[in-house]
Order: sequence, then C-alpha cells, then structure tokens
Amino acid sequence: AVIRREDYTPPAWLVPEVSLDFALGVDGTRVVSDLLVRRNAPGQPLRLSGDGIAAREVLVDGRPSNHWRMEGADLVIDLEGDEHRVSIETALNPAANSQLMGLYASNGMLCTQCEAEGFRRITFHPDRPDVLSVYRVRMAGPKADFPILLSNGNCVASGEGPPNENGEDTHWAEWHDPWPKPSYLFALVAGDLVATSDSFTTMNGRKVDLNIWVRPGDESRTHHAMRSLINSMKWDEEAFGREYDLDLFNIVAVSDFNMGAMENKGLNVFNTRYVLADPETATDGDYDAVEGVIGHEYFHNWSGNRITCRDWFQLSLKEGFTVLRDQMFSAAMGSEPVKRIEDVRVLRAAQFPEDSGPLAHPIRPDSYQEISNFYTATVYNKGAEVIRMMRSMANFGAGADRFRKGTDLYFDRHDGEAATCEDFVKAIEDGAGLDLTRFRLWYSQAGTPRVTARLAHEGDVATLHLTQEVPLTPGQASKQPMPIPLRLALFDRASGKHGGEQLVVLDQAEASFTFPGHAEAPVLSLNRGFSAPVAIDAATSQEDLVFLAAHDDDPFARYEALQSLIVRHLVAAAAEELSDDERFTGRHAIASAIAAVLDDTALDDLMRGELLILPGEGYLAEQFAQADPTAIRREREGLKGWLAQALLARFTALHDRASAVPFSLEAAARGARKVKTQALVYLAAGAPEEAARRAAAQYDAADNMTDRQGALMTLCGLDTPGRAEKLADFHARYAGNALVIDKWFSLQAGSLHGDALAHVKALADHPDFTLGNPNRVRSLYMAFAANPAAFHDPSGEGYRIIADLILALDPINAQTAARFVPSLGRWRRIEPARAAMMRAELERIAAAPSLSRDTFEQVTRSLG
Ligand code: ARG
Ligand code: ZN
Repeated sequence: AVIRREDYTPPAWLVPEVSLDFALGVDGTRVVSDLLVRRNAPGQPLRLSGDGIAAREVLVDGRPSNHWRMEGADLVIDLEGDEHRVSIETALNPAANSQLMGLYASNGMLCTQCEAEGFRRITFHPDRPDVLSVYRVRMAGPKADFPILLSNGNCVASGEGPPNENGEDTHWAEWHDPWPKPSYLFALVAGDLVATSDSFTTMNGRKVDLNIWVRPGDESRTHHAMRSLINSMKWDEEAFGREYDLDLFNIVAVSDFNMGAMENKGLNVFNTRYVLADPETATDGDYDAVEGVIGHEYFHNWSGNRITCRDWFQLSLKEGFTVLRDQMFSAAMGSEPVKRIEDVRVLRAAQFPEDSGPLAHPIRPDSYQEISNFYTATVYNKGAEVIRMMRSMANFGAGADRFRKGTDLYFDRHDGEAATCEDFVKAIEDGAGLDLTRFRLWYSQAGTPRVTARLAHEGDVATLHLTQEVPLTPGQASKQPMPIPLRLALFDRASGKHGGEQLVVLDQAEASFTFPGHAEAPVLSLNRGFSAPVAIDAATSQEDLVFLAAHDDDPFARYEALQSLIVRHLVAAAAEELSDDERFTGRHAIASAIAAVLDDTALDDLMRGELLILPGEGYLAEQFAQADPTAIRREREGLKGWLAQALLARFTALHDRASAVPFSLEAAARGARKVKTQALVYLAAGAPEEAARRAAAQYDAADNMTDRQGALMTLCGLDTPGRAEKLADFHARYAGNALVIDKWFSLQAGSLHGDALAHVKALADHPDFTLGNPNRVRSLYMAFAANPAAFHDPSGEGYRIIADLILALDPINAQTAARFVPSLGRWRRIEPARAAMMRAELERIAAAPSLSRDTFEQVTRSLG
C-alpha cells in the first residue's frame, strides 16, 4: 500500500504514558505493555499497529476485554469514553529476529532498533512519531546472561529477583525517562557489557555521567568515541546553544546493526564500527567517521528528540539538519576546507546518482511504501545542503550569525513538539529575516538542477548570464526554477586576485548580473564552497581552469577547478572524442596542475591528498547519458599511470618524505599518511613494480592501520607475489577482530585487480563470510557493487551475483537486501548491452514469490 503525505491526519488517540515490563530471555522474552490512552478525535476506535506479533492477553482498565479484534496486523479496540488503561501481553523470540528491527539478539546480548517502525515488532502501539509518551520500563532476567540492564532516561530502582524456573539468579531494573518521546526513540539493552566512563558538566552546571558500553575486551578502543562525545556536547552548546537534558548519557556498541547508529533518548545504540577505534585497527578515515557519527547521534538529542517529526515524510527535518550539524562539528574539529571537499565528494557519489535515477525523490518525499527505503543520501545529505543554502543566504555579508537566530527560534518555538519541514523553514524565515517563499521548492522538487554560466565582457563590464533547469524526475512532470545561491569571485588575470566574493541568487530560469570595473575579461570562480548542490556548466576554458587550480583562494573552488579539468578530459577520452594531439595536450595540462599541487609548500598534506584524488568512476559515469564503465576505468587508470610516469620522481619523493613522519593523530601526521597512500595509488598505475616494492615495505613497517590498509589496498590491485602474502598475513594478524576482517573483504572486493569478480565469488564461500551480519555483507558486496569494472563485467555475472544476494538476503534482512537494489536500478544510464542484463536481473527479482515490502518497492520503482 502506498502512504501519501497529503493523507496525514492527527492521531485519534494519544498515549501520554507507556509502561513496559520485560521478562528477558535470548530466545523468549515476554512483554507487558501498559498504555494510558486519551481520546484526541471523536468516534474512532483505538488502533494499534503490530508487526509479526500476537496479543496473548488484552486488558482494558484492568479487566480482560473482548472488545478487540485484529484487522490485518492492527489490533483494534472499541472504546467508549475518553481515557483508559490498555494492557497487552506479547511474546517475542529475539534470537530468531534476523531483520534486526524490534528486539533482537546480537552476540548473546539483547538490544532494540525501533526507528522507523520497529516498536510495533515489540508490542502493539500507534507507533507513529506524533504520539509522544513518558516511558517507564521494568526489565528482569538472569543475572549471568544480562549483568547490565539499560533503557532510556534514568535508572530509578534495581534489585535482586527470585531464581527463575532454571534455578538461575535473576535481577531487575526500572528506568524512567521524563522527556515525552515517540516510540521510535525507545531502547532497551541487556547483556554482558563493560563501560568506559567519564563525565561532562553542561553550561548551566548539570553534571552528566557518560558511559560507552562495549563487550569485555573492547574497552581500550573507546577513548576516541568518548573524546568525540565530550567535544560534541561542548560544541553544541557553543554553536547552537543546546544543552544536554538528563544526568546520564549511555552509548552501546552492537556488532549486528542495519545502519550506522541510533539516537534513542539517553541511550544511543551504535554499530561497533562507529565506536571502536585505536591506531592499530582503525584508519584515520575510521577515526573521522566515529567522530562524525558520535556527533550526529548526540546532536539528534535536540534536532530529532526534543523536536521530533510529525510523520515520516518529515524525516529530513531531523536528518538533514542533523547532518549539517555534524558536518559543521567535524569541520570545527579538523580542517574546514578538507571536510567540505569530502562532503561534496559524498554528495556527488551517493546523492547525484539518486537524483538522476529511477529512485529520485524530493528531500521531503510525497509517498512511500516502506519508509526504511527513504533513509537516503537525498533525505540526509541533500537535506543538509538545502539547510546549508539557507545558512549561506542568511549569513553572507551579514556580519552576524542570522542563521543562528533562526535555529534559536526553531528550538524555542517547537520544543516538545512533533514538527514539520515547513515549521523549520518558517522559523528560519522569521528568525533570520529571509523570504523563503520560492526556496521551499527545494523541499518538493527532486533532481539536481543544472546551471549554465556564460561570462561576457565589454568595455569594463563583465556580464554573467545564468540559466537553470531542474531535470524531470519520476512522478514530477513539470518543474519550476528554484532560488540557487551562488558564491562567486571574478579574478584579475594579471594580478591573480579578485575584488571580493559576492553572492548572487539565481531565482528565475535565467538571469544576468553585471560587474563593472573589469578592464580585462576576468576569470570566473563560481559556486565557491559549493554554495548550491547543483551541476554547473560554465564552459570555462582549459586555460582558465589551470589558472583557478593554481590561484583560487577558495580551497573548494581550487579543488573544483582541478577536478573539472580532469573530468572534462576523461569524459572526452572515454567517449573517444580526443585526437592523439588533444589527449597529449590534455594530459600535459593536468600534469602541470598536479605537479603544482605536489610542489606547493603552502598546502598542508591533508589538502594536498584531497587534491590528488582523481574524480571517481561513478561521478564520471554520471556525466554520460549512457556510460561505458570499461572505458571509464581504462581512461582513468591510463591517466593515472601516465601522470605517475611523467611525475615519477615527485611521487617517489613524496612517498619517501611522508614515510619519514612518525605516527601521531595530529593533522600533519595524518596528512602525511594520506599523501603516502596517494603516492602509492599513482605509482601502482604507472610503475607497478616500484609500487609493489614500496607497498610491501609500507605494510611491514606500519605501526597503524592507515598505513597498513593503504599498502594492502595497493597490493590488492597488483599482480605481485606480495599480494597473496600480505593478504594472508593481514587475515592471520587480525583474526577474531570483526571490523578489521571486514576491511580484508572490502579491499579485495573493491580492488582494481582484473580478477576482482572471481575474488568476490571465492570470498562468498570463505568461512568468515556470513549473510547474518550486515557489516560483513556490506564489506563484501557493497564494496563489489561500488567497483564499476568488476560489477559491470561484460559477462553480466556481476549483476547476477548482486541479484542472487538480494534474493538470498531478502527473507533474512529485508532492509539490508533492499539497499543493494539501486546499483542494478542504474540500468538506464549504462550502455545498452549491459543495461539489458541489469534490467533482466531486476525482473528476475521482481518475479520472486513473497518479496519483502522493502525490496519490492525498490525493484518496482527501478523498473518503472
Ligand atoms: N536515525 C538514525 C540516524 O540517522 C538512523 C536510523 C535508521 N534506521 C532505520 N531502520 N532505517 O542516525
Ligand atoms: Zn540521523
């Protein structure tokens, strides 16, 4: 059934109080739920959602009731009067819950995941985000199995219980969360856990106890997460005036988890990969991811929990805003320009393809079948970009943080409510003093706008002609122009300087802007800082791109100029549009720009490493109506190899210099590690024997995972004896460390090796592989699906592998299975021979009996 945004109606019954009583067991848990229900609309029965559960007993006001019935999965009770107590008992088998939604077992511990609609797998409930309740939770169980008992809020009582039927000692705990919350923020964790503890005193003097709970043995890997949590708490006070509101904040790391983490009130539950980090087992990238996700979940306490969503169409209200907040936090903790480039790279790699494919949807969708399918890069990352644009428009040249006035008003106005995206925009409008009337189109229109820019020059006036087009997307047959804020600068060619950055807002299909005072034609630097999430066609000459790559003082714009130079060359080369001469001059222009990056002593290595990363194959493919992944791989690797040979001495010198920097977590040392592996990446393409020698040495000398993984990645792509040798060493060295073994799978599945497809087939039969753990599934198959030359093998075997995976995983874990559909869903944008095979695999999936709603929706939309 399709759920539509326009069909929203307020809940017929409110639930001011929820009281839950759990009798815990890994393969049998009984739940008694006591709801205080209050009528909110006349004449309606109480309708409670369930999913895969049965009511063992229903009491109304303490008496067994027979005024209830099942309507499909819903439990419906006819109630007279306006207020009642409804009590329902359910029985669950957490060990059998492989979907990892609701209450499930992971490594012997019990935990919950309720967002978006998992609470109904625990007990019958309205289970919609606009029903807010105060929760009281009691749980009891065998002490030996569950020494630690956690839920939201504060622990208000605990004690010993009588021995159970097996003669085991039991205990119990009672938790109370004073903050009304929707059911999706409920959490319970019970198991053998140990905590790293610290505390944080808030700006108004509240002392908060902080605990990070992990399995015994993992305690030493929690320090970075704890530091990140404390930094998040401090930063949210300073940047947004947000203070924590309980005396306790718990984080639990779980190894079986569908997503990254979950912001349950006072009890965040995390995928282990976003908690555990030490230099021996985590890369610098992993450190950054831990910091970002810890911040993200913490920031949800205000943007998500204190103010939640009215319905799931408003998901970007909390996710877009919280992603922006975590991006700002990470920028403040590290390098702002590098973070901006990384965020744009993620947007282009993950969100642009969504926007240009069959699954395109606005950041506030209009309809869905399964909401889990809408936890997307569009809702999250484009959602963040849309709010970032409001921030730029509010703050540009304002000399004050007007955006902050808007967010202050938002938090103030809607605290305690289930709000809408419209509420947010209105608060920014009122608080920051902006007119966002037309800007609201960004919430309703899907598709990445295309902006063309042409700069004319006459006399001493430069005129910028801009046009925009919002591409048609499924279900949206006509589009209107949207306000697009573009930061720009006009550079004087002779001095290499510009006279100040400006902000223009293109809010029509076309517009022209004039800039006097330019005796010579200036060089245009447009969309600086990536001020709008659009695709720009500025027809900038190669000469001007080279100029900007060398002179632009906006680090993002400098990066962008270099990328454009390379994208343009590679696209033309892959389309076989280049004469030998053009190829030669194109490569030379790129080589001098890269040489400048390597030689520029004013650049820090973190930024240098960023600038050296060639545009990704996926982003290159996006530039074609129908891409040929083989040609893209060939040209990208060909260019890399040519550059390595042309700049061989520079790359080996860079590798030598960076290898001499001792390990630390400081920026300079991290930068050295980044360029060290970048040097290997180039050398592998142009001087494979040199690369193999250096990579093996780097692997052996490594005293940290960044260096070791970078070296192994390089070896994985090469035909060298060191490949098998170091892979075996790595596997043996980290046996039993699941997160590192995940890397071992990913490196092989994502490698540039010509036999990567065969390697993936063999790895699927490896004893360490299992469909039961989402991290392991992703480590093999997401890495493979993101490896274009392997996935798009001309035989079509890559498509069959992913379709087989989807079919095998769907009954076990539908949410994770459905996440693999978009890779096949790209079929219209791939050359016809492959497209036909991709489509055929989608049809094979669609024909399978009893598909989950998750996979069914994604497959039918992809074929549609
Ligand atoms: N709200 C979580 C976050 O953004 C994601 C939870 C998504 N869960 C799901 N089942 N789709 O951190
Ligand atoms: Zn989130």
